[in-house]
Amino acid sequence: MELDRVPLGLTFDDVLLVPRRSPVESRGQVDTRTRLARGVELAIPILSANMDAVTESEMAIAMAREGGLGVIHRFLPVERQVAEVRRVKRAESIVIEEPYTIAPHQTLREALAFLEEHGSAGLLVVEGGRLVGIVTARDLLFEDDLDRPVRDVMTPRERLVTAPPGITMEEAKRILHAHRIEKLPLVDSEGRLVGLVTSRDLRSRMQHPHATKDERGRLRVAAAVGVRGDYLERAEALVDEGVDLLVVDVAHGHSDVVLRAVRTLRSRFPHVPLMAGNVATAEGTLDLIEAGADAVKVGVGPGSTCTTRVVTGAGVPQLSAILECARAARERGIPVVADGGIRSSGDITKALAAGAAAVMLGNLLAGTEESPGTTIIRNGRQYKTYRGMASLWATARRKALDNPLDDEDIGQIVAEGVEALVPYRGRVADVLRQLVGGLRSGMSYCGARTIPELQHNARFVRITPAGLRESLPHDVELV
Ligand code: XMP
Repeated sequence: MELDRVPLGLTFDDVLLVPRRSPVESRGQVDTRTRLARGVELAIPILSANMDAVTESEMAIAMAREGGLGVIHRFLPVERQVAEVRRVKRAESIVIEEPYTIAPHQTLREALAFLEEHGSAGLLVVEGGRLVGIVTARDLLFEDDLDRPVRDVMTPRERLVTAPPGITMEEAKRILHAHRIEKLPLVDSEGRLVGLVTSRDLRSRMQHPHATKDERGRLRVAAAVGVRGDYLERAEALVDEGVDLLVVDVAHGHSDVVLRAVRTLRSRFPHVPLMAGNVATAEGTLDLIEAGADAVKVGVGPGSTCTTRVVTGAGVPQLSAILECARAARERGIPVVADGGIRSSGDITKALAAGAAAVMLGNLLAGTEESPGTTIIRNGRQYKTYRGMASLWATARRKALDNPLDDEDIGQIVAEGVEALVPYRGRVADVLRQLVGGLRSGMSYCGARTIPELQHNARFVRITPAGLRESLPHDVELV
């Protein structure tokens, strides 16, 4: 190849968005809704990364409540990943159709274990399909004899307030309030338990009007799968649990094995939205779309914990990758997600302006309360652990899921990521509020009220290192 034919690749810091005349009078007028994949719409264009230090159920619940989406990582056994999805799907709904139940003869120990495992506050007690009582965590709090049957401590049916199926939400709210109760079991004329309405769900619906929900009012959640081993059984179990989007998650998504897996998943689950990646070229994007992807994830090596580019020499600077992939995908009506390298709300605006329908964040969310990482204190400041999924210990843990590893196996691993710390950042909702506030402002600078308008209006200007220096705080002593 001739050197003068080598194209230039740019990333976020190489450009700025040129300010344009704006019809936007306040940030509140800016609409950040986006379409992710067939049927999946988000009020804010942000996904949490499918990494073990970023997204399990707690993160996914917080993301969906704020209008984004969490992608549960795949580096855990199938049944544990499925349980994480279940937690999100059950976190709230209009009516819980299959409430958790226990039989009256079961022990308090069993009830307690169930409540802990499912993170639930109460269990309906059912015998022969009929509601006979309710037992809550409060009933068990100071109980010494955990071998007693649930029957002994439950609040019995006669003291329970119930409602018939088909009750309106307004009516349910009125009953919950009038009786100052948390749970309203729905019981048919035969006394059979047919559902449950909780005040927690109703409260959450009022507090999170833009939450990402499915047609049954449950929070949406995505989950990652690989392309080898048990990936099909994993996908099947996730689909059975009601996952809203499968994400084929491979570092080099433009490979025959990934394309084969995408084709297989597409034919096995024709109705399940499917995202696939990661790629960084138009060819990679088109091949994944051809294989059946409904959305394509873009990013090879831009992530904050990635060393792929150093270790392998491969990758494309992220802004160029987004521009190229989004242009190719647009012709097929397929959205792309910009994954990796985003450090600020300004980077989010640039990624969307370059054509992404949404961004995926690892670093910016890894430090939040809801991430699974461990919190540590160093020099009096709080941090959370964060690591690349191809880092040494993450790779070792993944391999150890299949077979025990010895020192020699670990020595064979060629890591493409690092282990790190990120500053503790508080709650996801607060971090997202800041990021989305910045995005709204950025869209208004571009004269855009919506993301499609941003993509249509945006004009980038390339900058020099001097321009970048000028963009950052300078010539002041920071306090
Ligand atoms: P940020 O910059 O938000 O990026 O932390 C998150 C994304 O980084 C990718 N990722 C990796 N890439 N080696 C890599 O080359 C790794 O070990 C690794 N772990 C995560 C991934 O796309 C994620 O969403």
